[in-house]
Amino acid sequence: MREYTPETITDAVIEQMSTTPDPRMKEIMEAAVRHVHAFARDVNLTPGEWIKGIEFMTKVGQMCTPARQEFILLSDTVGLSALVNIMHDKTKMEEATGASLLGPFFRENTPRFESGAQIATIDKGGSEVVLFGRITNAQGAPLPGAQVTVWQTAADGRYDIQNGIEEIDCRGIFTADAEGKYVVRTVRPLGYFIPLDGPVGQMVMAQKRHGKRPAHIHFLIAAPGYRELVTALYLAGDEHLDDDVVFGASGDLVAEVKADDPASPIKGVASIHFDFSLARESEADRRAGRVGSDPGAITAGNGKATTPYGAPPPEMLAAEQPKKGGIFSGLFRGK
Ligand code: BEZ
Ligand code: FE
Repeated sequence: MREYTPETITDAVIEQMSTTPDPRMKEIMEAAVRHVHAFARDVNLTPGEWIKGIEFMTKVGQMCTPARQEFILLSDTVGLSALVNIMHDKTKMEEATGASLLGPFFRENTPRFESGAQIATIDKGGSEVVLFGRITNAQGAPLPGAQVTVWQTAADGRYDIQNGIEEIDCRGIFTADAEGKYVVRTVRPLGYFIPLDGPVGQMVMAQKRHGKRPAHIHFLIAAPGYRELVTALYLAGDEHLDDDVVFGASGDLVAEVKADDPASPIKGVASIHFDFSLARESEADRRAGRVGSDPGAITAGNGKATTPYGAPPPEMLAAEQPKKGGIFSGLFRGK
């Protein structure tokens, strides 16, 4: 009878899994087992800490609804989404606009608009801003008909989907014209707290992180024969450009809001000018997928309510200590 030790158990598990027929699944699971065992040995994981981890992951799963993806939020806050995104971006066939996070608030159900239309359709205040520029290939030739999907927070710093799946606002699909030009009217987005009213928020607060993203506008740009571009523009001057809680902001995607840009197609309104370029699509790109998804596509009809969520806890707003009794309290030594 075999006796396992902390040193031998990893190879025993990998040996037993070696019958896995799918080679990629075999590779991924072997590496996952190696790393997760190494992690447990590294930190000398205790039974109490192990069950806290199980409780945490259970709560993350239970928090998911068709309007809320707490697992993507977890991946985002530990930098895994950014890492996968950056690695994927490096495999582009040619130099083009860099990618950024899709985030947990993308949704397939997005209305189409004529060029120049206003996407903030519910009045929540805020100052108007025009987004304009060109969609080109990597050599600068226009891509007429490219599809430009835009989504962002309203002027109150919340995404529509946080108010329930029925509300649709501050998102739209536009089509680039014959010269590859796009024009979107919107309101200036605010930097915002990611949803902190769940287990991921408890983790972020237990780590004493500020929990904020810099102000940004998401773009998903698609044209036949080109790699889909999932990106975002980050507003120059935001105080959290360098310490985004989900590691999505990067210097090449920082855009300035100009009060009176003579190039803007709509006069008298502040504007952001940004030209996007797309790389040609490879065979592998067609299979690669996105780092993110409409939460409704992952958690369809599980009977859970999709009530408003993500209001920052008052203690975060007041920059106070996290609440006592959260699932992370008393877990770590030295607390
Ligand atoms: C966002 O950009 O909307 C976002 C991304 C990651 C986590 C939370 C929000
Ligand atoms: Fe966002």
